[in-house]
Amino acid sequence: MSQTFDLIVKGGTVVNQDGMGLADIGIVAGRIAAIGDLKTASAGETINAKGLHILPGVTDSQTHMREPGNEHKEDFETGGRAAVLGGVTSVFEMPNTAPPTTTPDAVADKVRRARHRMQCDFAFYGGATTENVDLLPEIERQPGCCGIKVFMGSSTGTLLVATDEDVARVLGAINRRAAFHSEDENRLVERKPLALEGHVETHPVWRDAEAAVLCTKRLLRLARHAGKRIHVLHISTADEIPLLAAAKDIATAETTPQHLTLAAPECYERLGTYAQMNPPIRAAEHRTGIWAGVAAGIIDVLGSDHAPHTREEKDKVYPNTPSGMPGVQTLVPIMLDHVNAGRLTLQRFVDLTSAGPQRIFGMARKGRIAVGYDADLTVVDMNAKRTIKNDWIATRAGWTPFDGVEVKGWPIGTIIRGRRVMWNDEITGPANGEPIVFVEALPKV
Ligand code: DOR
Repeated sequence: MSQTFDLIVKGGTVVNQDGMGLADIGIVAGRIAAIGDLKTASAGETINAKGLHILPGVTDSQTHMREPGNEHKEDFETGGRAAVLGGVTSVFEMPNTAPPTTTPDAVADKVRRARHRMQCDFAFYGGATTENVDLLPEIERQPGCCGIKVFMGSSTGTLLVATDEDVARVLGAINRRAAFHSEDENRLVERKPLALEGHVETHPVWRDAEAAVLCTKRLLRLARHAGKRIHVLHISTADEIPLLAAAKDIATAETTPQHLTLAAPECYERLGTYAQMNPPIRAAEHRTGIWAGVAAGIIDVLGSDHAPHTREEKDKVYPNTPSGMPGVQTLVPIMLDHVNAGRLTLQRFVDLTSAGPQRIFGMARKGRIAVGYDADLTVVDMNAKRTIKNDWIATRAGWTPFDGVEVKGWPIGTIIRGRRVMWNDEITGPANGEPIVFVEALPKV
């Protein structure tokens, strides 16, 4: 008897834990039901994926969607469209909104707002403050929460936990892996006069490599002392790579496509304040060192740190300009171009953007192409040559630092829980995003 599926993705090259090879994927009720030769099977819908690669859905584990409070920069609808146009099936979102996400209710409010308004699936970080330490264990167990985020150095918004004592209190209270913005606040305050008016190229002078290195050293010591797991966000220096290599029992690490692609001083000369982010883009030797960390397996995940700000805000005079650049839509094409240039393999890309987030954060049923898992698939054409343009960018901010960049490798389709939500640069269905379930906070049903 022939099998019947809701959807078959046919004839693509599947990249997963089995390696890379031709296979059909059969999907029933939003989950993967079969992988193999399904030519005798029937299906309600068949997608011909001949010549394309099928990756497990890409998770962008660091984004800022700005809702509530700064919807003039982005909201869950515009940010979700940007994600799926870029081949991203799930996003984790940061707590530095207005108000910040520092209570269980604030997480629940974001889940309510995002549900079926975001195209992609989603999870929210709870933000730690010096005042809400007692609430953190409850926030961590909230449905749709991916963990706690700690800003050890000030960035956009008001969240800050700067001292060793307060970081130790946070680590003592939490049970899941928390994520850290690691720049030393004291050093940032001390060096602020080095940020010269009208000179964005002084951004990495003010927020220098030592500020990141110092903070990561402190953080690793505090985590080891507390016996807690940590995740160090957006690694920006070559010098943190050996520190992280010596702490793989407790620490996982992320870097961003921007830190792997751009370098000072060229990025500031070409893009001005549009290249300003925290931690900053630094000189090329740091980029080289971070790539070495990718090659050595020390970097665990990629996040885009999608941080949209309007052109009007970015066009002010430095340092009155906000830090951050949009990135959720360009993560996949920029990184596929790096794959085609031989800087990493397609399997390593999958390790960084699907298996990595699954392993670190414990996403239930996501991050693998395996029977029983959610049918989240990122379909890519490794041979497509395109030029990234601002007019393709769906974020409300309407720009990308990669405008005009020609890439080889493009997201052709985004399939989330068995529904095709993007194909050939068009959104193909209504927003159906759901909160991600985490194995460390499984619902009782
Ligand atoms: O550049 C950044 N922008 N770094 C951060 O840590 C925050 C982000 C934002 O929210 O704009």
